Amino acid sequence: MSLSFDLVPGTHRTSPEKLVEILRDPGFVKYFSDHQAVATWTADAGWQDSKIENYGNFDIMPGTAVLHYSQEVFEGLKAYRHDDGSLWFFRPEMNARRMIQSCRRLDLPSLPEEDFLTSVYALMTVDKDWVPNGDGEKSYYMRPFIFANEQFLGVRSAARATYAVIGGPAAPYLSDGMTPVDIWVTTTYSRAGDGGTGAAKCGGNYASALAAQREGAEHGCSQVLFTDAASHEWVEELGGMNFFAVTADSALITPPTAGTILEGVTRDAILTLAPSLGLTPDVRPISLSELFAGIVEGDIVEAFACGTAAVVSAIGKLLHQTDGEVEVMPLTSPVGEVTRAIRTALLDIQWGRAADPYGWMHKITD
Ligand code: COI
Repeated sequence: MSLSFDLVPGTHRTSPEKLVEILRDPGFVKYFSDHQAVATWTADAGWQDSKIENYGNFDIMPGTAVLHYSQEVFEGLKAYRHDDGSLWFFRPEMNARRMIQSCRRLDLPSLPEEDFLTSVYALMTVDKDWVPNGDGEKSYYMRPFIFANEQFLGVRSAARATYAVIGGPAAPYLSDGMTPVDIWVTTTYSRAGDGGTGAAKCGGNYASALAAQREGAEHGCSQVLFTDAASHEWVEELGGMNFFAVTADSALITPPTAGTILEGVTRDAILTLAPSLGLTPDVRPISLSELFAGIVEGDIVEAFACGTAAVVSAIGKLLHQTDGEVEVMPLTSPVGEVTRAIRTALLDIQWGRAADPYGWMHKITD
């Protein structure tokens, strides 16, 4: 039976005056909106007890499994306010399906696509006043997640799990998109190996990226580009974003996901949009040697990171340490013309400024 996510009576709301202040400068979800969607799963009864309630604490005991073994998955999607005030999701069914795949990998109970969609629409309808207008590409970022919520210290899959959706207003994650970011290329740390959890959207993948991210930050970089765990020669993804290189002859190279790279919804949209912009999508392995030589020789002229939170963020430089020396590979600054064109095409669809021939946008409310 499908779940309903009804608002529990008597919840409280932020005052309109305070909300105006928050929406003016929301950062990347510095503030959470008034409500959350929740549901509980047990091995005996399946999914139940679904509702929308005030954003607030979970009752988590110290012995709860997720705190010890990270049995957890999550998603990220955005709601956009169009000029006429209406609210829209971008491809929410893709998030629902990817979460099912992530749950399979983490051996968590998956939430049916229909219930995922009911929950995100219900939360966004209740908290619709929290969606900023599109100035500065602000939107509402939503974070659905499922975690092992049973107390025990044995290593096994939990017999009780919690699903929740929280969110809040968000500016783009990395920069305003028009300011290129510098990226640290790590060949010491790995994000994912064959047969691992690289293709799942789970907290552990992001935790394992943090030491590399710190190393990058110490060199002035905002993000890290990971290479394959076996040889550290093949480009994979950033710590939470997919990677694209743009060639001088207008190809968009991105590595195949191949079980170690997250199947990004934005990545997929860019590959779909590319031909309409005169670009050739080229999904194939790309080595660091090819990438660096291509930059030096002028065959690779731009690179960008993409993701729901990051949107499309131009890469200004790649920094890589070999034998103690930091090598700097300059890309484009200001933003290259291909990165700019992709960004604009995507944002125009998301903000309803261009036709949506792919049926990506789904109306939430008028
Ligand atoms: C997303 O883009 O939705 C992510 O989860 C990435 C994270 C860096 C915020």
